[in-house]
Amino acid sequence: MAKIGVFPELSPEEAAAKIPHGATVAFSGFTHAGAAKVLPGALADRARSEHESGRPYRLQVMTGASCSESVDEPLGKVDAISWRAPYQSSSTLRKLINRQEVEYVDMHLSQVSEMVLAGFHGKIDFAVIEATEVTTDGRVYLTTSVGASPTYLQCADRVIIELNRYHSLRLREMTDITILSGPPHRGALALHSPLSKVGYPYAQVDPRRIVGIVENDEPDRAGPLSPPDVRSDKIAEHVVRFLVEEICSGQIPPEFLPLQAGVGNIGNGVMAALGKSEDIPPFSMYTEVFQDSLVDLMEQGKLQGASTAALTLTTENLRRIYDNMDFFIPRIVLRPQEISNHPGAVLGLGVIAMNTALEVDIYGNVNSSHVYGTDVMNGVGGSGEFTRNAFLSIYMCPSIAKGGKISSIVPMAPHVDNNEHAVQVVATEQGLADLRGLGPLQRAKAIIENCAHPAYRDYLHRYIEKSRIGHIRHDLDSCFELHINLMEQGAMLPDLDFTKL
Ligand code: COA
Repeated sequence: MAKIGVFPELSPEEAAAKIPHGATVAFSGFTHAGAAKVLPGALADRARSEHESGRPYRLQVMTGASCSESVDEPLGKVDAISWRAPYQSSSTLRKLINRQEVEYVDMHLSQVSEMVLAGFHGKIDFAVIEATEVTTDGRVYLTTSVGASPTYLQCADRVIIELNRYHSLRLREMTDITILSGPPHRGALALHSPLSKVGYPYAQVDPRRIVGIVENDEPDRAGPLSPPDVRSDKIAEHVVRFLVEEICSGQIPPEFLPLQAGVGNIGNGVMAALGKSEDIPPFSMYTEVFQDSLVDLMEQGKLQGASTAALTLTTENLRRIYDNMDFFIPRIVLRPQEISNHPGAVLGLGVIAMNTALEVDIYGNVNSSHVYGTDVMNGVGGSGEFTRNAFLSIYMCPSIAKGGKISSIVPMAPHVDNNEHAVQVVATEQGLADLRGLGPLQRAKAIIENCAHPAYRDYLHRYIEKSRIGHIRHDLDSCFELHINLMEQGAMLPDLDFTKL
């Protein structure tokens, strides 16, 4: 058998043959960054042929975060996933989860490592981890994400390394890996700035557990970027103006604070707008994903440094980093998600968190994950640890969705990921509501007047007026009327003229 170093070299099919039906498999990857590229496809082929022969073949799948194109789509399409954690964003898997054909454990991403180490999810049978190099003594140099891979390498019974020749060997110079001890010895994290390093450039595995190495040279499978739309630009404008006012009034220190921005169009747009603002000083980020707009900002000197779990970039933008590693290495630290999303670090550094909601209720409770409270979109992701521990937590969303058939501001959210006690600011393209120091009725008025679409404001005001008086006003008979209308009649307020919205 051919060898790479002391380890057997396997074809994708040989590697897939080692993983039996029912196994729990932990793949590397935090978004498409650093995701396993070869094994998921080979496992999907195996599942298809087992199913055709009338045999079951389904796996329990873990990753760092979403790995749609690399893991969830190929395996989901052939019904090869029975259980999934901690986060997904695949359209195929979402349908299976919402039909209850796949069990999905939607988790705070900072807690994955601790829970796996504690054994809450049972045994990890296989870890399939993408790396640029593995040494004979078990040092594993990871690629564009760290995610939960160090923990999976430590815990898994058996390990398959996907050795990816595409990526820069110098990624290790950005990487800082540590696995926190279990309770009661977890201790405080000595992070004094987003760029502080506290660990090692590699993850460690017992080399006797490595059953083989599969080689490839595929780039990360980045999804297409949506072009910025008018609503995202407007939201960004409100958020930037608010942050500038906060600096001017002395609420935020003049040197500014580290930022976290959720993945996606709105987060990307806000970051680009912050970069353009001359009133925002050069800043740093303590965030879980380093996305496209940040490459420009770093090159321009506006973004001075970033801590992240993943380089979630298009191939072109990753290439810009690889072509200029001397510049980027001192400015980026790639960390395990346990550290990139560590509640104590977020609190200690005074992070300004900016995340996206599907809907927000009039009191500031945020639903980012479950449409109608029943159907999962993606999951809570890292939003919880950032929102709860941030110096300032901001939620953003367009005021309406689906051409106005949906209002993102509702009387009561049917599912809450982040609640009114942690959400301080809400922004839509209509405006921004600063909820700090406001009681419930004041919050409701600020959100309706500043954030709701004008077509829904009267309805929301009337809802408050008819509600039972208490500390928080609600009318339990009609609090979900908009959602019920949407389910039954296809629009929250079916009589609205949507052509005018
Ligand atoms: N009810 C039902 N559907 C809604 C909705 C609502 N209130 N608001 C938006 N939608 C629909 C949109 O129409 C769109 O549907 P489509 O895919 O059929 O076009 C879909 O939800 C996604 O909306 P979009 O505006 O494109 O949002 P996005 O890509 O910016 O994602 C979240 C928004 C909330 C789904 C996403 O940010 C998320 O998953 N967040 C949770 C995880 C997280 O915050 N991580 C943070 C750290 S990275």
